[in-house]
Amino acid sequence: MKFFIDTANLEQIKEAQDLGVLDGVTTNPSLMAKEGITGTDNILKHYVNICNIVTGDVSAEVIATDFKGMVNEGEMLASLHPQIVVKIPMIKDGVKALKYFSDKGIKTNCTLVFSAGQALLAAKAGATYVSPFLGRLDDINQDGIDLIEQIVYIYQNYDFGTQVLAASIRSPLHIVRCAEAGADVATCPLNAILDLLKHPLTDSGLAKFLADAKGTK
Ligand code: G3P
Repeated sequence: MKFFIDTANLEQIKEAQDLGVLDGVTTNPSLMAKEGITGTDNILKHYVNICNIVTGDVSAEVIATDFKGMVNEGEMLASLHPQIVVKIPMIKDGVKALKYFSDKGIKTNCTLVFSAGQALLAAKAGATYVSPFLGRLDDINQDGIDLIEQIVYIYQNYDFGTQVLAASIRSPLHIVRCAEAGADVATCPLNAILDLLKHPLTDSGLAKFLADAKGTK
């Protein structure tokens, strides 16, 4: 399973990259706003800065919601850097835009996916990635992992090339459950990745090893 980091924070992206386990980055307009990145020029420069830190795919989301607007914006984003993946919302014109970019060989990430039917449409349209938001389903008392499993199952039935990119991940348990479900990618906040490290028996075991190595009690 690939690890993407879900942030527009350059320090956090660098920290995850330095850990040596990072395969890519996802962003969205809310994450850009959280970092205070506003205005088209600043946003475009920020995407290039992110691409210069990591080696993998970097999702950049379109703001337009009509086909022509998404195509224009997506082409401009894709021209910024070869690592850019055009992120497109799961709406009717979005499906058309996914097909357009797929036919042109431009990578896409279909976002705001909350059902297997939506994921099926995204795959039919040739999306590179589909992003089911599991945390937001959990928020409304619907098991997000069930959706990941359902999409993985459907894609395997038909050998769809679309990769399941589990998004809206909130915890290390979410990451492990996504791995069990066979998600291709988990995009996570830095703290969820770092929380994978933690176990009290590791801490107490290491403390004992170090004490024994020094001959102390
Ligand atoms: O990748 C999607 C993600 O940014 C949404 O996460 O926590 O706002 O549901 P969240």
